[in-house]
Formats: sequence, C-alpha cells, structure tokens
Amino acid sequence: MKQLLITDVSPRDGLQNQALHFSTQDKRWLVEALSDCGIPRIEATSFVSPTAVPQMADAADLLAAVTGPAKDKLCVLVPNSKGLRRAQDAGANEICVVLSATETMNERNIRMSLAQAVSTCIEVLAEAQAAGLRTRAYVAVAFACPFEGQTSPDRAIQLAKQMADAGADEVVIADTIGAAHPSQVSNLMRPLINTLGADRLGIHLHDTRGLGLANAWAAIQAGVKRFDSSAAGLGGCPFAPGAAGNLATEDLAWLAHESGYETGIDLPALLQVVEGLSLRLKKPLGGRSYTWLKQYFSKAVVDQNHAMSGNPK
Ligand code: COA
Ligand code: ZN
Repeated sequence: MKQLLITDVSPRDGLQNQALHFSTQDKRWLVEALSDCGIPRIEATSFVSPTAVPQMADAADLLAAVTGPAKDKLCVLVPNSKGLRRAQDAGANEICVVLSATETMNERNIRMSLAQAVSTCIEVLAEAQAAGLRTRAYVAVAFACPFEGQTSPDRAIQLAKQMADAGADEVVIADTIGAAHPSQVSNLMRPLINTLGADRLGIHLHDTRGLGLANAWAAIQAGVKRFDSSAAGLGGCPFAPGAAGNLATEDLAWLAHESGYETGIDLPALLQVVEGLSLRLKKPLGGRSYTWLKQYFSKAVVDQNHAMSGNPK
C-alpha cells in the first residue's frame, strides 16, 4: 500500500500563536496523545527566544517530561546555534531550521537578512549533523510572503537546493500564510521531486483560503509523500500577518485513507485529541471534516455494536 508520512506540528506551529497559556503538562498530554494515535513524527516545540515566543519558553521542560514511544518521534525547531545547543542539552534527536524565502520575512521572523539566514541555517545544519542529529530545513513563505507578495519559484527552488546541499535530511516547502493554489504547488513540487527525490522533500500547508486539501492533493499527485499538518487545524505564525491555521491532520488523513494511502493514523483516536484541544483552549476547534467525521465514526461504533448484539440497525 502507498504511504504518506505525516508530521503533526500542532504542539509547535499550533500552540505558538495561542494567546491562552498551555501548560507543560498539557503539552505533554498533546504530544503523547498524538503519538498514541499513530502519528509517526511530531514537531513538539521550538528553542527560540522566549521573548519572541513566550508559549515556547518551556521547550526543555517539555522534552524532559515526554515519555514512552513519543520520545523517539519528536523534532524541534531551532533558529540559530544557541537554539541548537539548548535542543541538544534537552536531548533532542531531530531539529528543523527555518529559512524564509524573502528578506522581510527573515527580518521579521528571526531578525536576519536572507543571506544571514542562509549562512546560519548552513552552520546549524552542519553542527547538528556533526552531533548525529537528524535534520529538516524549512523554506518558509515559499509561495507567497505577507510583506513581499508572490515568491518566485526559482528562488524557492534555489533555496531548497542550498538546504539539501547543506545536508538537510529533508527540505520542507512551507506555504506559511496559506496563499498557494494547486497549480503553483504542482509547478514547485514537481521539479523539486525530480531533484531531491520524494524521501528528502516535504510540504507544510496552511488552510487560510480553503485550498489546503486541494494543495495537498496537488502535492500527492506530484509525488510528495511527506506532509506537515496540525491536529484540529491549529496553527499560524505570529510574525506572518494573515497566517491562519495549518491544514488539519484529520482532513489530510481522511483524504489519504479515502485515496488509498496509509498514514498509520487512527482517526477516531485523533478526533479525541481534537476534542481535548478544544477543551483546553476553551474554543470549538477542528478541521473542515471534523463534525462529519465525528458523526461518521460514532455511527460506525453504533453499527458495530448492533452487529455484535445481532440487533437489526
Ligand atoms: N533561544 C533562547 N534565547 C535566545 C536564542 C534561542 N535560540 N537565540 C538568542 N537568544 C537570546 C540571546 O541570548 C539574547 O539574550 P539576552 O538579551 O538575555 O542576552 C537575546 O535572545 C537576543 O539575542 P539576539 O541574538 O540579538 O537575538 P535577536 O533579538 O536578534 O532574535 C531570534 C533572534 C532568532 C532569537 C528571535 O528572533 C527568535 O527567537 N525568533 C523565533 C521566531 C519564531 O519562533 N517564529 C516562528 C517559527 S518559524
Ligand atoms: Zn506553519
């Protein structure tokens, strides 16, 4: 069976933007519950400046708190060498660096020019590899930037290649503000698949304009097998105005399963995680398919019980 590898980024991309403080214990619950749903990789937190993103100030405490199988599935975002050292001290096995495709976005996000961001990412990737860590490199605002408009595909491809040449195990093309449409996704991902291969390429989609799933499908058709998504569609970058939630993991898993791809994700269990997130964040949450999926799976349980008891439906 064909497979997609889904990385759930809700603990990092999802929570970094939430006004309500999410305790370390609640983050631990989220990470372990996502792992229990069969999610193979979880972007757990970021080792960034606590002034820049207060919600991520407990990154080291979270890594220390997580136990069980989830521990081997975690990756963490680091913006610079200091972040890498903090992540290593906390026992991280996999890190992501973040490079934006435009000058202004790098300045707003990590206070570096594009050239400084490229050299910082190259340095951090080298240091991480020397320390035996697995690495991912994000190319953020790869389709459009909230400050500079459309990103040229040539620039996104060039930066992705630079990250691959620097040894990133995986390069992740990010539609940070959810502004891409499916033909742009095809046009960017097809040449990248040819150059990097499907095992080294991922895509990170947001659903701001309702095209998250259509873009995911375009990426699948282009041969992409690695996706970022977020339970409940939680997400958004505090430094990218207009960035709404990520593509929801439940929507992507449903699309994948219906289309003959395995993800390893237990969807009814994931719906419970979405419910747990809604309770903790005190607002109704869930991807586009959430309400329907809940009805669908509760009906499946009722049908199964009827079948077991021999009752007619
Ligand atoms: N973790 C914790 N603290 C850090 C840090 C890190 N990775 N990198 C720098 N700092 C600290 C410095 O030690 C310094 O502390 P001090 O004032 O107590 O001496 C302070 O932050 C400023 O350091 P400086 O190198 O001048 O950083 P900056 O102010 O230029 O900010 C970043 C640069 C990258 C640290 C900051 O912009 C950041 O964390 N951005 C993350 C943005 C983000 O998470 N975006 C969403 C995900 S893509
Ligand atoms: Zn994102």
